[in-house]
Amino acid sequence: MITNGIRSFQELCSMTRNTIDLTAVVAGASGGIGQPLSLLCKASPLVDELSLYDVVNTPGVAADLSHISSVAKVEGYLPSDDGMKNAFTGADLVLIPAGIPRKPGMTRDDLFKINAGIVRDLVKGVAEYCPKAYVLVISNPVNSTVPIAAEVLKAAGVFNAKKLFGVTTLDVVRSETFVQSITGEKDPSKTKIPVIGGHSGETIVPLFSQAKPAVKIPEDKLDALVHRVQFGGDEVVKAKNGAGSATLSMAYAGYRC
Ligand code: 2OP
Repeated sequence: MITNGIRSFQELCSMTRNTIDLTAVVAGASGGIGQPLSLLCKASPLVDELSLYDVVNTPGVAADLSHISSVAKVEGYLPSDDGMKNAFTGADLVLIPAGIPRKPGMTRDDLFKINAGIVRDLVKGVAEYCPKAYVLVISNPVNSTVPIAAEVLKAAGVFNAKKLFGVTTLDVVRSETFVQSITGEKDPSKTKIPVIGGHSGETIVPLFSQAKPAVKIPEDKLDALVHRVQFGGDEVVKAKNGAGSATLSMAYAGYRC
């Protein structure tokens, strides 16, 4: 199941909040998306405990974030010493940005070989240590990593379709932002644009006709606008010139979704 901002992180937090303190895990916390996403989670008053898991550097990222005067208690874990078990046990939410990013000329599908295995192993950990957690997969290609996560959870007998999400909210965020050139709205987030489908090229379907408040897109501008949303990720990959893909806007989208 892919979500384009249908249910918010904040909503997920409040769904778990009435019974227990909220414990969130960022799996891949030391990476380009993982670090800003961890910062946003640490800054959120909704998170009580924040576990950072990655193959390197999580003690340092956790120490850095732990100096921020917000509610969440933050702890960093590495694979050694049962790190995954300790990070995941008792988690309510597991956010997965782990994996390698695109370089110029690559499609999200080119990441499949490496990222599929990373997501598989992390979701095996979810199945074993926090089978009831909400799982939000950010790692690309999301159109494929979410089905992999579903199969891992099914094989372990703990799949719940209502708790597995592919994070595609960056397409919503881009739609809101790019349509601003037409609406002239000062705050682009005030224009709500639903986006359906997946998270790759033509599978991204922004529904500008369903915008709230309604937006009149001139016919000669619609194709270019839709194309920019569908291939917005390529803009960032090109601009970063070999240093990766969208990380900051992706972290924002992951947090907001
Ligand atoms: C993007 O759309 C990284 O998939 C992400 O930019």
